[in-house]
Formats: sequence, C-alpha cells, structure tokens
Amino acid sequence: MAETTSPARASWSGKLAFVLAAAASAVGLGSMWRFPYLAAKYGGGTFLFVYLVFVFTIGIALLLLETALGRHTRQSAIGAFKAFGKKYAFIGIFTSAVPFIIVPYYCVIGGWVTKYLVGYVTDGPAALADGGAFFSNFIADGPQSIVFMLIFMALTYFTVAVGVNKGIEKANLVMMPLLIIMAAAVAIYALTMPGALDGLAFYLLPDLSAISPELIISALGQTFFTLSLAMGIMVTYGSYLDKSTKLTSSVVQIAGTTFGVSLLAGMMIIPATFAALGSGQAVAENSGPSLMFIILPQVFQNMGPAASVLGCVFFILVLFAALTSSISLVETCTSIIQDATGCFRRRALLYTVIFVTVMGIIVNLGYSSLSFIQPLGEGSSILDLLDFISNSVMMPIAALMTCIWVGWIIKPKVIIDEVKVSTKFGAEKAWTVFIKYIAPVVLVVILVAYVAQTMG
Ligand code: PFF
Repeated sequence: MAETTSPARASWSGKLAFVLAAAASAVGLGSMWRFPYLAAKYGGGTFLFVYLVFVFTIGIALLLLETALGRHTRQSAIGAFKAFGKKYAFIGIFTSAVPFIIVPYYCVIGGWVTKYLVGYVTDGPAALADGGAFFSNFIADGPQSIVFMLIFMALTYFTVAVGVNKGIEKANLVMMPLLIIMAAAVAIYALTMPGALDGLAFYLLPDLSAISPELIISALGQTFFTLSLAMGIMVTYGSYLDKSTKLTSSVVQIAGTTFGVSLLAGMMIIPATFAALGSGQAVAENSGPSLMFIILPQVFQNMGPAASVLGCVFFILVLFAALTSSISLVETCTSIIQDATGCFRRRALLYTVIFVTVMGIIVNLGYSSLSFIQPLGEGSSILDLLDFISNSVMMPIAALMTCIWVGWIIKPKVIIDEVKVSTKFGAEKAWTVFIKYIAPVVLVVILVAYVAQTMG
C-alpha cells in the first residue's frame, strides 16, 4: 500500500498496482471464511444469488463513488467528506469507526487460521478432521487462542511498521493466483464426494421464496465487507490514484475477482457440508463462524495421504489473503488516527496496536471465560456482536449517508466528472439514478424491514 507519511502524496505506479492492491484488501477472510458460512446459513443458492446481485449493482456503484471521491479530494475518508464543508465530517467519522470494530475480530479469525496451519504440522491432519472437537477445544482455551491471535497480529503490525508492504504485495502476486488454483482444485475434488452434487444444486440454485429481510441485510453487509466498502478504505485507496487510471474497468475487475474467490470458497465447503449432513436445513443449523475450520479438514482428510501437505499449503494461502487484508485494515486505522489527531505515524500505529490487541483479547475470551456474555441470544459470542454491529448496522447506514450526500448534497456531477477525467462513462445516467434514488430507497427499505422483523 502507498505510504502516508511522505510529504508529496504517494501514488500507485499504475492501474495494475491499484487493482492488485484493492483486490488484495478485498479478497481475504470475508471471501474465504465469512461467505461460505453465511451462504450455508441462508439457503445456499439463495444467498449466492442475492450477493451476486448486490456486488454487481450497489457494490460496483459504491466502489466507483468511493475511489472517485478519494481521487478528487486527494484525502482519506474524514478529509474527503470535510473537503466539501466541515459539517460533513461526521459522515467520514462514522464511516471511519467501522474498521476499528472489524480489526479486532478479524485478527481473532486470523489467529484461528494460524493455529490450523501449525496444527497440520504438529498434530497431523487426522486430529483436525475430528468433526469439530479440535476447534471447540481450541477456542475454549483462552490463553492458547490469544497466543495465536497475537502471532497473527504481530505479523500484521510488523509489516505495517517496517513498511514492507510492497514486498508483501509482490508475494501476493504469486499467492493469490495459487489460492485460486488450489481452491478450484479442492472444490472440484469436493464435488466428487458422494452426495455432493445435491449439495452443488443447493449451493447454486436460488429459492426466491426463501429470501428474508435477514438474508438480504446479511448479503448486503457481506458485499460491503468483502469489497472493503462503507468503511473509508476505498476512498483512501482512490486518493493515491493518478488521473489516468480508468476507474470504471478497475472497479469491475476488483468486484469480479472478489466475487469469483467467494464463489470458489463456497464451492469447496458447501457441497461437502451438504453431503455430510444431508439437507439444506441441517446445513443451515450447523453453520456458523466455525464452518470452514470443521469442514475443510475433513475434505482434506478424505483426499488421502496428501492431506497434511494440502492442509498446510491451503492455510498458508488463506493466511496470506488474511494478512494482506488485515494490513490494509491496520493501515486504515493508523491513518485515521494520524489525520484526526495530527500525531506522528508511529504514535498512531501504537494507539492502533494497543486498541486492537486489548479488544482482540476480549473477543477471544468471549469463547472461554467471558462466554456467559451472549449479546445476540443464546449461543452467540462477542465476535458475533462486533460482526453484526459493523456489517448489518453501521455499513448499511454509512452507505446510505454516502449515497444521499453524493446524490443530493454535493451532487453526482462531482463524481462523474472525476470518472470522466480518465475514461468514457457509458453508465453515467444509470449510475446517477442508482445513487440518487434506487440505492437510498433500497437501503432504507432493507434497514426498516430488518428492524421491523427483529422487533416483531
Ligand atoms: N475485504 C476484506 C475481506 O473480505 O476479508 C476485509 C477488509 C479488509 C475490510 C480491509 C476492510 C478493509 F479495509
């Protein structure tokens, strides 16, 4: 990622650098871990379909808006909104709060991935493929799960602190295609398991009658989460862009890559889960944040003697995808603190580290000594609460405020002119109608329907 300390504003070396960096931020645990469990929970193909629709409508429209806003103002989130008047800073501040809620639990899941990588070496593949006991014992062991989270955090902080992000991004150039190839191979293998084809149908075919407000808000939140939207980050990334980069094709490529990886991740996990449990309802009932950590080891185990190598390689690749995202989250938090307080970058990073570490420890303990805290009903955890507040509440509200602000206050022309600096904008009219009318109405309807359902 571009450095934020240099006096002249850093910039990407070209379109490819931007698309890769944005895709590296976007593709992460959201696609690999979060998407499959949500799809499993909400009817497979039904969720996939709604997610697909959101990614290629509101997802792309907002990606374009945020990157163009960043490039136009040359500022990260708070400054970009403030550039049009001090009174608009609150939108930037609200939006900027989101990454602070996400990083702590992102690092907890990063710790789980790290544990599985180590587990393949020290415990062997059979121990991990025991139907969930390995996983439950691990998260219920507070000190152990904290240690693994701290290892993941240390990797993240170290990269941000010494500024070797460029190196990480280069490595990512190899890791990301490898992840895609490996996920595709595992997905194809998983489909050969008995019963998996029924699972594939469950995963791909939507049942439109099963669409509920809860499903819709989850798919919406997932769209924002995976595309790193409604949390300020793409504004910052846009601010490093030069005027010649074509925004329209870039955002389609970023969204397409992210969707593709999510699709594959679901393909590895959901048909296999369906094959093991036998019905969509059973899949939904057994789905949750632990899904990837329970099902994949079983798929690898079925693949025979290569299981430990496969498991190791796979979790290394997921770890990489997670790291490039957590780095961009920590970078974002650091530059928000820096911009807001005017302090040095090192100090801002220190504040971020302290906050994230303390919060992360609390989230971890939510599965052991603090497990009596079940904020969203029986069996829920602190992690579920943070995930819910950020994805289902704050991001939709941030997106709504941004659309209304651009559509009605600063006017879409500002963004359209910025897009047109580098390319023709064929969808100009459609985009305007979408940001001005469709997106705000849809977002309000979704939020209201969801609140009504929750209350009633
Ligand atoms: N998009 C990332 C994922 O799906 O894993 C999560 C994320 C990374 C969100 C970086 C925000 C961000 F700034």
